[in-house]
This record gives sequence, structure tokens and C-alpha cells, in this order.
Amino acid sequence: MNSSEAVYDAAEAFVQQCYSELNKETEIPVRLGEIKEEIRQTGSYTHTLEELSHGAKMAWRNSNRCIGRFFWQTLDVFDARKLTTAEEVFYALCRHIEYATNGGRILPTITVFAQQKEGEQDRIRLWNHQLLRYAGYETEDGVIGDPWSIAFTRQCEALGWRGKGTDYDLLPLVIQVDGGEAEWFDIPGEIVMEVPIRHPENAAVADLNVKWYGVPIISDMRMEIGGIDYPAAPFNGWYMETEIGARNLADTDRYDLLPKVASLFELDTSRASTLWKDRALVELNRAVIHSFKEDGVSIVDHHTAAEQFRQFEMREQEAGRKLTGDWTWLIPPVSPAATHVFHKQYKDEVITPNYHYQEKPYSG
Ligand code: ARG
Repeated sequence: MNSSEAVYDAAEAFVQQCYSELNKETEIPVRLGEIKEEIRQTGSYTHTLEELSHGAKMAWRNSNRCIGRFFWQTLDVFDARKLTTAEEVFYALCRHIEYATNGGRILPTITVFAQQKEGEQDRIRLWNHQLLRYAGYETEDGVIGDPWSIAFTRQCEALGWRGKGTDYDLLPLVIQVDGGEAEWFDIPGEIVMEVPIRHPENAAVADLNVKWYGVPIISDMRMEIGGIDYPAAPFNGWYMETEIGARNLADTDRYDLLPKVASLFELDTSRASTLWKDRALVELNRAVIHSFKEDGVSIVDHHTAAEQFRQFEMREQEAGRKLTGDWTWLIPPVSPAATHVFHKQYKDEVITPNYHYQEKPYSG
């Protein structure tokens, strides 16, 4: 966002919508006057806690790729805009992990760090893609860990971090302040819940020693509310089982476990037409759901998630808001046509507030 007018216009549109949703229309003129004055003096403006909190929820509601948006109003918002040092940010991130994990009953949560200032370096930038993520190492005998993390793992090593070299090394939190040298911090093991994956009927699945972390906390997206950018605003919901069972653990360029699962179930892998991949996928997804449920960690299956999304669609219609969505992301990767989402069309228009991709702060 550059010119002051552009910031004011975005602020005005946001305040109008935010305050009317909160039934505070009468406060709009005074608030817009304040914002205009603050922009005149500083080139920017500061959200009230209520604007920040409702704006973050609107940003979730507008996330076209998210099937979990039924719960947008339940987001818990932590205001960490005042924090200035890497240590302070590290403690806020640990608190986020603990609070959101909540002993397994996951709470959708966002922690918002300092807003971007026109023409200045981002005050806080998180290098991690997610706060919890497994390292990936390229070795002579192939990749160890999560191939997805190879480039970032190298960055961590360049900063002096060393992993144990297992398939499930939690990466450190990497925090950059004012465009200076990034600092890394190991996450205390006690605050991280991980779920060993086992199968409700086939005991051999546990012997694969596969696990996954409980809470997906996206930390590399930029939140935009009313013309203000928040380059560091990590947020989480809970997992839908296919994200783990049909992608992270199954993709051939991730943990690539379908051949192993197929062999544990003695499936005929000699021909594609036995549908062994499909059968292995279903068993792996069942194992993920079973394990998370048994350990009391929130998870949703794709049929239930689609049903909740249908409710969201209805509520948005009732509220007189237009629904936007990205069909290619909304359909689950397993049995998509068994959900209503597959049979509908969605308008992939990006409305604001929202969460956006941003350029990586490191190269590679
Ligand atoms: N798909 C990503 C992963 O597997 C997580 C994205 C966010 N997912 C969520 N349920 N909030 O780690």
C-alpha cells in the first residue's frame, strides 16, 4: 500500500464494513476522522484492538482456499504488535503454540506482530512456513525427513542450527527483526503435541514409526486489513485428515508412504488397476483420524468438513455477503465427488481483509 490516499480509502472501506458487522455504525464518522488525522501526521494508522480482532476474523472468512471457514468467528486474537525483540517474539510464539494446542482441544488462534511501516523494513518477520514443521535433509542415500523443508533447513544450518538427522526433527523458530540477522530458537519439546500414527485394525502400521504434529500454524503469510499489512501474523485451525494422510505422508515428493502402507495391507501393487494406491490412501487416512482421536487431538474428516462448509455457505447467504472460494483447493484430495463442494462452482475473487503469500525473506 503506498499513497496516503490509498491507505485511507482502504481504511474507510474496512471501517464501514467492520463497524456495521459489529452494530457500531454510529461510531464510524468519528473513527474515520481519527484515522484521517493519524494518516496525515504519520502516513499510516493503528487499528484498535476490536478492529484488529474482527479484521483477522474477516480475513479468515475471506480465505478462498479454506474449507474450515464455518468457525471464523471463534478465532482468538493475540495482540503482539508492541513486541520488538527476537526473544519477546519467541516467547509469544511459544505461548501461541501452547494456547492453541490447549491440551489437544485445539483453539483457532492468531498472534499479530508489528504492522509494516511505509518505506521501512518489516519490523518482525518469521522465516518458518509453519511454526511446527519437520526438517528435510538431502543426503547421498536420498532425503531424510520432509523434502518440502530442504531449502529452509539449509538456511537454519547456515545460521548455526543442527538437527538430529531423524525423519521428524522439529525445525527451530527463525525470527528476523528490522531486516537484521535472523536468530533461531529451539522450541521447547514440552509444548509440542505430536501424534504417533497407528491403524485401528492393522497393528503393523505403528511399526512404520510415522508421526505428525498436532497443530498447523501458518507463519509465512501477510495479513492485510484496511490497507495495513501485518507481515508476521501466525494463525492456526486444526487439521483435516487428508492434509496429513493424503498429502504430507502420501505425496511422492513428501513422505511417500503409499508403497509401504500397501505392503502392510498385502495389496497387489503389480498393476495400477488393482487401485492399491486408492486403498492405501484410505487406510492411511483412517489411521490419521484414529490416532488423533484416540490421543484427544482435534481433527476433522473431509466429509464432516465439507458439511460444515455447507453451513458456512448458508450463513454467508443469510448475512447477505457474497461467497468466494477456490474450488481447486476446497475439494478434498480423497473422494472429492462424494462432497457437495465438487458439484458447485465458486467465485475465486480475492476480497479484503485477507491473508496473502509474500516473498520469502531468504533465497533458495
Ligand atoms: N496443509 C498444511 C499442512 O498439511 C496446513 C494448512 C492449514 N491447514 C489447516 N487445517 N488449518 O501442514
